Amino acid sequence: MSTPADTAALLARRARTLAPTYQLFYEQPLEIVRASGVWMYAADGRRYLDAYNNVPVVGHCHPQVVEALCRQARTLNTHTRYLAEQPLQLAEELLGTLLPESGRVIFTCTGSEANDLAVRISKAVTGGSGFIITEFAYHGATDLVAGLSPEDGNPLGPGVYTVAPPIGPQAAASFGARVRRCIERMQADGVRPAALLLDTIFSSEGVASDPRGFLADAVSAVRAAGGLFIADEVQPGFGRLGEAMWGFQRHGVTPDLITMGKPMGNGHPIAAVAGRADIFSEFAKGRRYFNTYGGNSVSCATALAVLAVIRSENLLENARRSGEYLRRGLCTLAERGGVIRDVRGAGLFIGVELGQNPASGLTGAAETRRVVNGLCRRGVLVGSTGRNGDVVKIRAPLTLEEQHADLLLEALAHTLRSAA
Ligand SMILES: Cc1ncc(COP(=O)(O)O)c(C=O)c1O
Repeated sequence: MSTPADTAALLARRARTLAPTYQLFYEQPLEIVRASGVWMYAADGRRYLDAYNNVPVVGHCHPQVVEALCRQARTLNTHTRYLAEQPLQLAEELLGTLLPESGRVIFTCTGSEANDLAVRISKAVTGGSGFIITEFAYHGATDLVAGLSPEDGNPLGPGVYTVAPPIGPQAAASFGARVRRCIERMQADGVRPAALLLDTIFSSEGVASDPRGFLADAVSAVRAAGGLFIADEVQPGFGRLGEAMWGFQRHGVTPDLITMGKPMGNGHPIAAVAGRADIFSEFAKGRRYFNTYGGNSVSCATALAVLAVIRSENLLENARRSGEYLRRGLCTLAERGGVIRDVRGAGLFIGVELGQNPASGLTGAAETRRVVNGLCRRGVLVGSTGRNGDVVKIRAPLTLEEQHADLLLEALAHTLRSAA
């Protein structure tokens, strides 16, 4: 069992060895030593309900996923320059949920690489160089996509234009009009649009899911101007929103390119770009793309097991049902206390916007920080998001059940009522 002195020693070593760009969660940082299902266990012996991590989508250390990974690691791990079953089966299964008629896939290792590649492809096939993103977007960490990720404090890259995010019914209804005006600005500057790149749940913006279909007008606008629509599914993909596998399906649109990652390997690094076959054919003219670890045998076997568990445990339906239960509970809390200003999201991707709390005397971001840390002390892990930092972010593994949601709701009610 670890002691506060052990924690202090780890913090000191971290400060000596890791770059200061890294950040830790929570005022009292956690040393997590193992995890299973929706639970994470800390070195001090405490157990935490994980309502934050979207990566372990089928639950931490799912035995079927771990077994598939180990079995493949014992058998063979190689790259995509040999014929093999796993990458083909994985591509077929993914395309079956994405673009059944004619799609293609390129595997990468991270969401950043997937977005970087999608950006390159869209430039190459459209001849354009202009990109539209939302104002506080995050799309990854390579030099190219850092220029499309203002959330991290990066300057915008060349040809990158922003639009205000669709947070709230009015901003969602006028989203298409904002994208149209943005295209006009771009064209007035002599820049040809290459793509509209959107996280289809707008996670870093504070979560925007409704009304269904609000993306369609924006997608038509960029296509009419010769650009592509890239759906960044790194956060909402793999069933997180309940009902469907992908966030864009909520909006009745079919993207030209789709990027995915995070939950794809339940914690094992695998990601991909999928899209229309003709787009990849055009990109491939005179060009090769090889990613040593993208599509390796072990990663593909792991991702196949993740897809199998999502199907066999009916996790889309569980995400829909548990998410709805949790949202109903959050709305009841909102009616009671007045601190919760809005509850947004779908399935198990929920944003809870906080206002002023008379109990703590705090408001917005300060209240959100207090709530996130208060929940942690009460054994429930959540995060925060949004440009103003005033949205509690809940993204539990899709195996979350009503009894777990009750624990979260109880801890939240307690925290909102308390001064500490
Ligand atoms: C919407 C979105 N896109 C892309 C990425 C980058 O993925 P990765 O960290 O795997 O490079 C992230 C990571 O947080 C993300 O949230």
